[in-house]
Amino acid sequence: MTAARWSRRAPRLAERNFDRDEVLLSCNGHSRQYSINRKSLQTLMTKMAIPPRDHQTTLEKIVANSALDRSPKRLFGQVGDDFWFWLFTEGYRENRDRLDGLLPSMPDENIQRRFTGAAGNETLTEAFSFYLLVRRLATTHLDRSVESVLDFGCGWGRAIRFFLRDIEPRNLWGIDCFPQMIDLCKTTNVWSNFALVEPLPPTTFYNGTFDLVYAYSVFSHLSERAHLAWLHEFKRILRPGGLVVATTRPREFIQWCADLRANQDQQLWAKGPASSFTNTKEALARYDRGEFLYESVGGGDCLDPSFFGETCIPRRYVEENWTKLFTFVDYIDDRSACIQNVILVRK
Ligand SMILES: C[S@@+](CC[C@H](N)C(=O)[O-])C[C@H]1O[C@@H](n2cnc3c(N)ncnc32)[C@H](O)[C@@H]1O
Repeated sequence: MTAARWSRRAPRLAERNFDRDEVLLSCNGHSRQYSINRKSLQTLMTKMAIPPRDHQTTLEKIVANSALDRSPKRLFGQVGDDFWFWLFTEGYRENRDRLDGLLPSMPDENIQRRFTGAAGNETLTEAFSFYLLVRRLATTHLDRSVESVLDFGCGWGRAIRFFLRDIEPRNLWGIDCFPQMIDLCKTTNVWSNFALVEPLPPTTFYNGTFDLVYAYSVFSHLSERAHLAWLHEFKRILRPGGLVVATTRPREFIQWCADLRANQDQQLWAKGPASSFTNTKEALARYDRGEFLYESVGGGDCLDPSFFGETCIPRRYVEENWTKLFTFVDYIDDRSACIQNVILVRK
């Protein structure tokens, strides 16, 4: 089998071996297998270099019918994954005037990078892949449909936007302790709800408000005390059977911090990791013993070192401690599923 990869703008074959007639094309975590001859393969790859024309046609039909009801869920609830992602990337750039009133816009590139380490398609691809994973986990592990979702530590709102096709906007919440992020979310995404919270709970949500709480790249930064306090709060605001999906730094992050230290040309977001886990061997040993690893390096502005730094939560720690509050469901340590480790527990 020939392995091929493409980016949405520039498809590229990883191996240029056309002797076999089967190819595996993968993009953003989705793989499709095609049986195809060499000439057809080349035609397919050329076609994939331009935005799919049927996406544009689909969009035009939806926009034409959008006058009366502009709720993203009603407008886009039935669209496929490819089209949904395209709407926020190429589709958005090419149809900005039409989509501005229908879907969230993007903040300044510097803000994107500061909070997610990347910008544009790259940062949205990562968030979209996590969104698809959360959807899949909810379908598999929740005994009902997801009606209400909380994005904890929503940042500038890169992930929550994708849930707009699934969840009624009034039941979709993002919270964050960074005031400028909440202000930005309220400006760029007028459909979901956003609220500023203190670094430690409680929130003002009623008991049992949500079916699902997710936190992408937030439990990768919280101190042990802050993370435990938020777990208690999640338990309170989740309905029985509700899920928590939280990501944390994987074991290899410890070595990556050492590699970053060796690199003089660090970007702002890399400063924290570069000064974390400076005794690599000892940190790896602690990880392997199932200890909670936290470096109180802070994150700038209101992200105070008392609660914010760099965090690795090993599987054993989750099994021994999170289970005092929740039922353990899964711990995904697989880079093809997510670039961080994913913890899944149920109330
Ligand atoms: C690395 S960013 C990730 C943002 C977002 N989840 C994403 O993936 O785009 C971490 C976010 O968590 C927020 N955060 C950190 N500690 C928090 C706390 N104790 N309570 C609420 N939000 C917090 C930060 O302000 C920041 O927006």
